[in-house]
Amino acid sequence: MMDAFSSAAQNTSFAGRRLHLGICGSIACYKMADVLRALLKMGLHVSVTLTDGARQFVTPGLFEALGAMPVFTNHAPRQDSFGEEAFAHLEPGQRAEAMLIAPASADALARLAGGRACDMLSAQALAFDGPLLVAPAMNPRMWAHAATQDNVATLRRRGVRILAPGNGSTACGDQGQGRLVSSDELLLACLQALAPQDMAGLRVMVTLGPTREPWDGVRFWSNPSSGRMGAALATAAWLRGATVEAVCGPGCPPLPDGVRRHDVRTAREMFEAAQSLWSEMDLGAFSAAVADFSPVPYGEAKFKKEGASDGFSVSFTSNPDILRTLSLGRREGQKVLGFAAETAPDMDALMTLVRGKRQRKQADLLAGNAVNAPGCGFGTDSNSMAVLDKNGHEEIWTSQSKADVAWKLWSWLLRV
Ligand code: C5P
Repeated sequence: MMDAFSSAAQNTSFAGRRLHLGICGSIACYKMADVLRALLKMGLHVSVTLTDGARQFVTPGLFEALGAMPVFTNHAPRQDSFGEEAFAHLEPGQRAEAMLIAPASADALARLAGGRACDMLSAQALAFDGPLLVAPAMNPRMWAHAATQDNVATLRRRGVRILAPGNGSTACGDQGQGRLVSSDELLLACLQALAPQDMAGLRVMVTLGPTREPWDGVRFWSNPSSGRMGAALATAAWLRGATVEAVCGPGCPPLPDGVRRHDVRTAREMFEAAQSLWSEMDLGAFSAAVADFSPVPYGEAKFKKEGASDGFSVSFTSNPDILRTLSLGRREGQKVLGFAAETAPDMDALMTLVRGKRQRKQADLLAGNAVNAPGCGFGTDSNSMAVLDKNGHEEIWTSQSKADVAWKLWSWLLRV
């Protein structure tokens, strides 16, 4: 749970944003406590409305105790979150920047489609003119019914984003489409609704993770890259509206469903996948830790220690430099972000290495991190960076989450 989200969850740029959650009666209600906690942890301000149906499963006290403010029910509080007299049915519309209704019952879909204002949540939705996201959950026959499908079509036509339920077994024992989408998807959809869409219309390619260069039938040459920096880049670009192609080495984390994922194994496979995508791209971020060399294969069989002499040697051949090749061969208007994983005694020494690398790779922007510094580089959630652009502008960023690093790197690349 919350895998794809973990690359976005440490993004501090959503702190202080305001979201309203509407919760309807469904066994899936309990999942919303986790969703709320994750949003609050990112510093969002979240208000909640429980329908009478939801109150059959969860209590206002649960959401209040977790930190939602205020929690509305059909019995309106007379004061808002600032202690002022309020019209409860209008408050989310005046304060929230996006509204998510999840789980949304069949009846809630009907009320929304019909423009009803017969309960607190329906009235609040009617008085809300920001982005509305609706994640239905119900029995598969109720979901498939023409009445429900008509309501969904009506809502879609009005610009409501429907997070269609998934397939599987439902609480009532039936099989089919009706399960609430994952908490990850709910969270990412909320962030996407709040994110600036400054990358809309851009096609972005990200390379990420390690590559594996096979030697014998069971062994390979690789490095400990986790792909987290690249996952943060792919997720951030997707949140900001880009179309994202992620070329992933082995073991990369899950990515948002909206990101197109191309799984590869070796440096050569990564090169071929990236090269075939590149001509259609506007931006490229090359965060993969590509193996510079591949062992000359021993063969398909396992190399046996019996008979192997101490100090036996393995030969290596060079791999294509994906970043350099695509950067030098780019067409007009394409922009390139490169990375450098270095061992350096301090940030100034790192910056010196980064300057040389930016020049050699002809990147518009190059971000270097010291993989030997504690809490930085391979497999961590944070990075200290030395960043340099083609105009000679340089910045040193002290330790921060990879989500924040990714967010800032895209902003920089867009304006360079
Ligand atoms: O030369 P070095 O490996 O240090 O350069 C690092 C940068 O080059 C990273 O952006 C990495 O993704 C990219 N690279 C590449 N193909 C290689 C080696 C590195 O794309 N074979």
